[in-house]
Amino acid sequence: MAMVNVTFIAADGSEQRIAVATGTSLMEAAVGQGVDGIDAECGGNCYCGTCRVYVDPAWQAIVGPQGEYEGPVVEATGDEEPSVRLSCQVTVTDELDGLVVRLPAAQT
Ligand code: FES
Repeated sequence: MAMVNVTFIAADGSEQRIAVATGTSLMEAAVGQGVDGIDAECGGNCYCGTCRVYVDPAWQAIVGPQGEYEGPVVEATGDEEPSVRLSCQVTVTDELDGLVVRLPAAQT
């Protein structure tokens, strides 16, 4: 297990940077460390769609596309931002050291 740095940029532009243990989901790390702006109502079960993040363009290829079960959940939220991922479905790896994601204005 290693630690990598991830930066969350809120809709108002404020940044929160946390150290995340590899193997953890981005959502668990963010919620566990008090990052504002991720509701995660279903607790990481790929169901609620309230853990959305927008992956910085420089990181999209490394983070990868939405998973098979993720797409319909995102669609149900009405969020049409192309870079959107459910943070509970992104497992942090060594490759993601320095990752930057943005947060929606609201997790509806
Ligand atoms: S926490 Fe509910 S979909 Fe991610």
